[in-house]
Amino acid sequence: MDKAESSYVLEARNLKKSYGKGENSVAALKDVSFAVKPGEFVAILGPSGSGKSTLLNMLGLMDQPDSGDVFIAGKKTLALKEEARALLRNEKLGFVFQFDALLSEFTILENILFPALISTRAKKASYSEARKRALGLLEHLGLLQIAERYPSQVSGGERQRAALCRALMNQPDIILADEPTGNLDKANGEMVFKDLEALARQRLTAVILVTHNEEAALKAFRVFHMQDGALSEVLGVQS
Ligand SMILES: Nc1ncnc2c1ncn2[C@@H]1O[C@H](COP(=O)(O)OP(=O)(O)OP(=O)(O)O)[C@@H](O)[C@H]1O
Ligand SMILES: [Mg+2]
Repeated sequence: MDKAESSYVLEARNLKKSYGKGENSVAALKDVSFAVKPGEFVAILGPSGSGKSTLLNMLGLMDQPDSGDVFIAGKKTLALKEEARALLRNEKLGFVFQFDALLSEFTILENILFPALISTRAKKASYSEARKRALGLLEHLGLLQIAERYPSQVSGGERQRAALCRALMNQPDIILADEPTGNLDKANGEMVFKDLEALARQRLTAVILVTHNEEAALKAFRVFHMQDGALSEVLGVQS
């Protein structure tokens, strides 16, 4: 059966990925299957080197598995050309990384506008509409006052929440967040978690969060544990 069950916004089937060859080969993912419904907030815990970022890179269509496939909104993605994958990334997925990756020579507002400006859909929407939406997102996360500042002129927590606004700009179905609070203090980290959780609840955006923070993970609807390239669900966790 080629088609994934349509109730899943994102599904991984039997993903395998190794790095390197021969004796030096590392099996980073060993047959990982995983499915997420719209609006689910999923946390993935696991030790360093267990394969969490590798999995997120596959789910985000940034890298390809050796075998298995990733389905987005029920569609297979492995066989797609890079152009089609880039389009899916831009329209369906939002990314938040451990280090915010905002471009330092542009203002916070400009950074947030980029995904809309490079999207094909944006050609139909006007710049002023995109700008209005970006400002709305900044307001929603309490960041309106930093819109015209450069990333070096705001705090780490503010940068990370601005990166979240950028991830939301194209109204993605799925947010992939790899240790988004890794370099933040407790209070700012909690704010980012709270924002992610609210998004999942209010906008039906599926959130897949990789974290080392077990306390935060317990706020998720579902919790998974990654160990030596294998993923298992931690049962009995309920938000
Ligand atoms: N590009 C690469 N080339 C070779 N090996 C790699 C590459 N990327 C990851 N690995 C290896 O694959 C395994 C999984 O790495 P991955 O980055 O997915 O771990 P992780 O769970 O995200 O760890 P961390 O919590 O430290 O971020 C590790 O053994 C790592 O050394
Ligand atoms: Mg990692």
